[in-house]
Amino acid sequence: MELNKMLKPHKRAEVEWHEIREIGQEGKNSTTYVVEDVQLGAEIVMKRIAKAKLDSAAEYFDEAKALYATAHQNVVPVLYSCEDDEYVYIALPFYEGGSLGSLMASRNLTVREIVRISCQLLSGLHNIHSKGLIHFDIKPDNILLSERGEALISDFGLAKQMYAGEAWQDQFYMPIAPPERVVGPPFNLQHDIYQFGLTLYRMCCGEASVREQFDAFGGDRKAFVGALEKGTYPSRSLFPEHIPNRLKSVVIQCLKPDPNDRFLSALAVANELAKVDSCFDWMYEAVGDEKHWKRHDNGTVKSFTVRGDGSTEFLTTKNGRSRRKTAHCKATMTPTKIRGVLKSEG
Ligand SMILES: Nc1ncnc2c1ncn2[C@@H]1O[C@H](COP(=O)(O)OP(=O)(O)O)[C@@H](O)[C@H]1O
Ligand SMILES: [Mg+2]
Repeated sequence: MELNKMLKPHKRAEVEWHEIREIGQEGKNSTTYVVEDVQLGAEIVMKRIAKAKLDSAAEYFDEAKALYATAHQNVVPVLYSCEDDEYVYIALPFYEGGSLGSLMASRNLTVREIVRISCQLLSGLHNIHSKGLIHFDIKPDNILLSERGEALISDFGLAKQMYAGEAWQDQFYMPIAPPERVVGPPFNLQHDIYQFGLTLYRMCCGEASVREQFDAFGGDRKAFVGALEKGTYPSRSLFPEHIPNRLKSVVIQCLKPDPNDRFLSALAVANELAKVDSCFDWMYEAVGDEKHWKRHDNGTVKSFTVRGDGSTEFLTTKNGRSRRKTAHCKATMTPTKIRGVLKSEG
């Protein structure tokens, strides 16, 4: 093979682009730019990785190779990859819609959106695993959204090849680390299933809730790790009432502290998610100690408010006229009753 390579002519060529602006936060090892690619005459994204941050020259193109090897409709396609003296570059299509992280920062998602995005994400993830890789960095910032709102897995900076179902990876980011990080490598694909579960949790409960829970540890690493191992972080009892039980149990099984108790494959998770069958279109918002749900139903807007003191108000609005639905307006209502209202009106 090596001899064959040596006998064939070796070519080097040039590519040229103009930086337009930087996007994404300055990463640890990389910087991402929107650029004007001169050859293609198009705006694309160029991810720039410092060679100095990689262990050896043999690793320079690992990220680009992992992307190329896992080509799939739910994995970001790689256009080309190249290098100069200091950096490795990966050229990607520019997704103006940004990441799932930026969408989640702007609003909560409905159950319909959560299930749709998750099934796409899981299809991409299953493909990554079946090509023998563990991604190791599944999180909302690393999921891009196409023009049609389809989820694409990106950022293979931590991806590793599995050997006999296991892979080694020392780098990790504590807030999204699964409990088995405490023991250390090797890890199996259930590492990605956990991180998918945490992503799903964030979609269900909202970014603010997860941030609040994490910040409550005040940087006490020991307490945080203890909660991870016990399965009390993130809290399994803070799901808003419109999240159906079937969806909740998928999240909880993905987050099981023991990797052996999680789903065996990304496909198995998708099969369970496909069984979610209620409360699809409530738009949920928590404001102070109030919870609001709203949905459009054939020209009528239904809105349900649960106040901090437990009292509730249900309004239907049609042609600009609002009416209270007294059966759902109570001085206090239990969470079970609230779930009942959302299910019957959803
Ligand atoms: N092709 C793309 N189109 C649009 N935004 C992108 C694209 N690639 C990356 N980004 C944005 O840049 C951020 C950083 O890119 P990423 O590949 O995740 O690098 P890092 O390894 O630094 O996390 C992403 O979170 C995303 O918001
Ligand atoms: Mg990233």
